[in-house]
Amino acid sequence: MKKQVCDLTVINNTRLNHDNYLIELKPSIKLENIQPGQFVNIQVKDSPTTFLRRPFSIHDVNYYNNTFAILVKTVGDGTFKLSKIEKNETLDVVFPLGNGFSEPSKGEKILLIGGGVGIAPMMHMARESKNIGVEVHILLGARSESDHILVNEFSQFGQVHLTTDDGTLGIHGFVTDHDIMSSKWKFDRFYCCGPDPMMHAVAKRAKALKTECEVSLENMMACGFGVCLCCVTKTNEGNKCVCTEGPVFNINDLEWQI
Ligand SMILES: Cc1cc2nc3c(=O)[nH]c(=O)nc-3n(C[C@H](O)[C@H](O)[C@H](O)COP(=O)(O)OP(=O)(O)OC[C@H]3O[C@@H](n4cnc5c(N)ncnc54)[C@H](O)[C@@H]3O)c2cc1C
Ligand code: FES
Repeated sequence: MKKQVCDLTVINNTRLNHDNYLIELKPSIKLENIQPGQFVNIQVKDSPTTFLRRPFSIHDVNYYNNTFAILVKTVGDGTFKLSKIEKNETLDVVFPLGNGFSEPSKGEKILLIGGGVGIAPMMHMARESKNIGVEVHILLGARSESDHILVNEFSQFGQVHLTTDDGTLGIHGFVTDHDIMSSKWKFDRFYCCGPDPMMHAVAKRAKALKTECEVSLENMMACGFGVCLCCVTKTNEGNKCVCTEGPVFNINDLEWQI
């Protein structure tokens, strides 16, 4: 789908836990071919500190209802304002942006790894992958039990595996401590989004297991269209903008992986 700038109507804003909100949006134009991993840039109105658009992964797409959802974790002014948005209000959104994850092949076995709000792009990825006959496993990491959200929704598309830093749900530890990331599982591909240290650890494991791995980077953005260079990441081919040349990168192309 070509990049659009338009006002989207809020269909629902659901509070999922203490700091996460699921916002469902409906455009007036037809949604088509949105790639899992692509993102949107949202103008947050009426705030002196949020004149720059804020980026959010496309969490899931419903082509039948012509809606898509974003998952918002409240961390500052922009996300707090978004968390208060109500049904029938509109949001000025640029979408879809970025490259998205590579499509796995039918019959492959993949592991989607999400940490914190990095689980956001994985719902769409899980749905699309299952639709084309891929065996999907989903590994979700969070600090504590109350930080785990949408577990039942993920389980529609594959087996869900959980970790918590404090041991209150699932395996006690980080995602890389889970047995599902050991050599006996033999995944064809890992797809990962989450805090940088988690993505580094997953990338290191992927290298050790010789498993293909893509990560979706969430570098801070300002302009969102390749001009300010504040989102660059170092790659084998020099600096690349996460906003226009990402956010998804193969770990073999990233300098932090060498
Ligand atoms: C490609 C991409 C996809 C993203 N997807 C999602 C998503 O699906 N759901 C979601 O909730 N958030 C997502 N984010 C992060 C989100 O854009 C920021 O949390 C948001 O812009 C913060 O805006 P704010 O005005 O609330 O906070 P600010 O007032 O701008 O910042 C508040 C605090 O959050 C920190 N912060 C801001 N942006 C980031 C960032 N990118 N990474 C780490 N810390 C940050 C700031 O340093 C500051 O400490 C994504 C970011 C990118 C680049
Ligand atoms: S955010 Fe400005 S270049 Fe990427």
